Amino acid sequence: MEILDKLIKEYKEAKVDIIQVLHHIQNEYNYLPKEVLIKLSRELHIPLSKIYSIATFYAAFSLTPRGKHLCTVCMGTACHVRGAPAVLSRIEERLGIRPGETTPDNNFTLETVNCLGACALAPIVVIDGEYHGQTTVNKIDRLLEKYAQKADKI
Ligand code: FES
Repeated sequence: MEILDKLIKEYKEAKVDIIQVLHHIQNEYNYLPKEVLIKLSRELHIPLSKIYSIATFYAAFSLTPRGKHLCTVCMGTACHVRGAPAVLSRIEERLGIRPGETTPDNNFTLETVNCLGACALAPIVVIDGEYHGQTTVNKIDRLLEKYAQKADKI
């Protein structure tokens, strides 16, 4: 927990705020472990309920372990009309998980959102922050393959 001690020190020196602390922890562990949040609450004198309210407010934070790759499928109206349900079904089939779940090998976490604000590119799949517009069922296999190979190298 070396990183945690460093973050606690920086917080106490007012070099970072609690959201930055949580971002660092999210990046380090790929989620916000309960025991880490309890330690933060105790050391920083911030009520645990306040830390949880921040952690659950921002989509960037997760209270459950996430895979090495975060795959987000937009299910907003424009994406839905242009084939997002078929794209999502193909991803579910390939990964063997449903939205909100992580593959057993910890490579992928699948999520859905309602609109990414880039409807002209519908349907959109975002993997690790990279937007893939006008996605088709046929493109999905290649896309997942590319990221699976990256995951193997991690
Ligand atoms: S509905 Fe998918 S980006 Fe807007």
